[in-house]
Amino acid sequence: MNAVFETGGGEILSRLPDRAEAWAVLTQYNKNEFHLRHALTEESVMRWFAAELGHGDEADFWALVGLLHDLDFEGWPGQHCHKTEALMRELDWDERLIHAVVSHGYGLVTDVKPEHEMEKILFATDELTGLIGAAAIIRPSRSVMDLELKSVKKKFKTENFAAGCSRAVIKRGAAMLGWELDKLMEWTIRAMRASEEEINAFFVPDSAGFPVQHGDDA
Ligand SMILES: [Fe+2]
Repeated sequence: MNAVFETGGGEILSRLPDRAEAWAVLTQYNKNEFHLRHALTEESVMRWFAAELGHGDEADFWALVGLLHDLDFEGWPGQHCHKTEALMRELDWDERLIHAVVSHGYGLVTDVKPEHEMEKILFATDELTGLIGAAAIIRPSRSVMDLELKSVKKKFKTENFAAGCSRAVIKRGAAMLGWELDKLMEWTIRAMRASEEEINAFFVPDSAGFPVQHGDDA
């Protein structure tokens, strides 16, 4: 990616980080496997939706937004989205990236509305990937591969299951997209199936059974 916007005088206005820089910044502020898994999940889910919805040429950007969307959440949960905006501004990162990331807190911690289809996908899938992941992990397979829509719908209706995953946000996301909830769930399950193996392989248990990251790249 590495898009850099310069004035005639060579002054750098703003830019998009490449994957390596984004990962370095993400892992500077996020050490917890839960948060890194969520970042990697959203990265791949966003990439899947970009391709599926005919935006394959923008897939790297959609994925970047997914990877970085919760940049501040481990370190500054009380300043969610606002701290990310400040960190990204310090880095002179592109306003499109900042808008997209900040808009996923719309109605919760910011008043920046998701406008672009990509932003609506992020908003709609952020909580839903958590719910689907929680439904998958309690299966004998511990996998999303044999998790079906009807199971996810059942868990969705069970209020105290993965209660931290806001059903209201998921419904609002589907409405923003103009999609039935079933479509959003079905497509998000498919998106998560596409990357599960790769993400699991990234967190390889060590001899004591604790997950360790086996590299600097996912
Ligand atoms: Fe998130």
